[in-house]
Amino acid sequence: MLKIDHLSASYKTIDGNVHVVKDVNFTIRDNEIFGIAGESGCGKSTLLKTLYDIIEFPLEIDHGKVILSGMKNGKSFCFESGSIRRSWWNHISYVPQAAQSVLNPIVRLKDQFLDSIPKESKEETSAQTLQRVAKYMEGLGLSPDVLDAFPFQLSGGMRQRAVIALATFMSPNVVLADEPTTALDVVVQRGILMMLMDLQKKFRNTLIIVSHDMGVHYQITDRMGIMYSGSFVELGPTEDIFEDPIHPYTKMLIGALPRVGDKSQKVGIPGRPPALKNPPPGCRFAARCPQATDKCRQDPPPEFREIRPGRFAACHYLKSEVN
Ligand SMILES: Nc1ncnc2c1ncn2[C@@H]1O[C@H](COP(=O)(O)OP(=O)(O)O)[C@@H](O)[C@H]1O
Ligand SMILES: [Mg+2]
Repeated sequence: MLKIDHLSASYKTIDGNVHVVKDVNFTIRDNEIFGIAGESGCGKSTLLKTLYDIIEFPLEIDHGKVILSGMKNGKSFCFESGSIRRSWWNHISYVPQAAQSVLNPIVRLKDQFLDSIPKESKEETSAQTLQRVAKYMEGLGLSPDVLDAFPFQLSGGMRQRAVIALATFMSPNVVLADEPTTALDVVVQRGILMMLMDLQKKFRNTLIIVSHDMGVHYQITDRMGIMYSGSFVELGPTEDIFEDPIHPYTKMLIGALPRVGDKSQKVGIPGRPPALKNPPPGCRFAARCPQATDKCRQDPPPEFREIRPGRFAACHYLKSEVN
């Protein structure tokens, strides 16, 4: 289980702090595919960095923490922000945004694997480690020859598969993937999504996938959260959200998606998210929300809360039906 406990984080800049993650509070369960959606710049990648505990200047946690706990091979574990690093590879792993380009193009893949993967025992030789990697890759339908290649010799899709293979090699409890299909063409995207889904089924672990593309969430996630300007505005089972979104922003996002057989003109959401540096005092979506009132423009929305069983949102005009 990954618990994000009232987490706020900001970038320290010479012109002041940019609050990019604002009071994010929710729990991701074991054995689920959880999606994080939202327009570019809303803080998805920053949130993922805090989950993976890459808190490096100028990023700082201002409030709250992340707790990673669970069981692996009959042993329980618990790590918090600050110590999650110790669980990298074994309990949690990360496929960063533009992962295809994080590989050093002129170092053979096998050497990059050897640099990253801990040995099974002190006695294990590099050749033996590579044998394990090759076997694992074969199991994923990837030719072990890829290990001898330089990344520049591989297609973007193949590089992405290699990075995913590396991230999942030690069967971590949680895999984080940031925009894993962005910048790949549609056919390759489909293959990468299938690979991620198959791996999650096989290991029964937790996959957290960040994408600005709602289609990706529709295709593979069990539950999803929608971020707007640093906070979650809605969270729930993906199917329910697509069928019956409750927050005005989610309604607009889903209303803007094309549907088979629907010939009506689709419009994007007018306007842009507010600057994170000087956000408006009230609801950050107010300026674009068709239902906004003066109250929305002046007062921040009530805390993100359960509106219906399993359905969370933050909006002045949503009443909780759950006590
Ligand atoms: N190193 C940094 N210093 C200052 N601001 C940053 C830095 N990295 C990202 N940001 C700002 O944080 C905001 C959120 O970025 P990001 O988390 O990458 O969003 P997303 O992944 O949703 O596109 C953006 O407005 C971006 O300009
Ligand atoms: Mg991003």
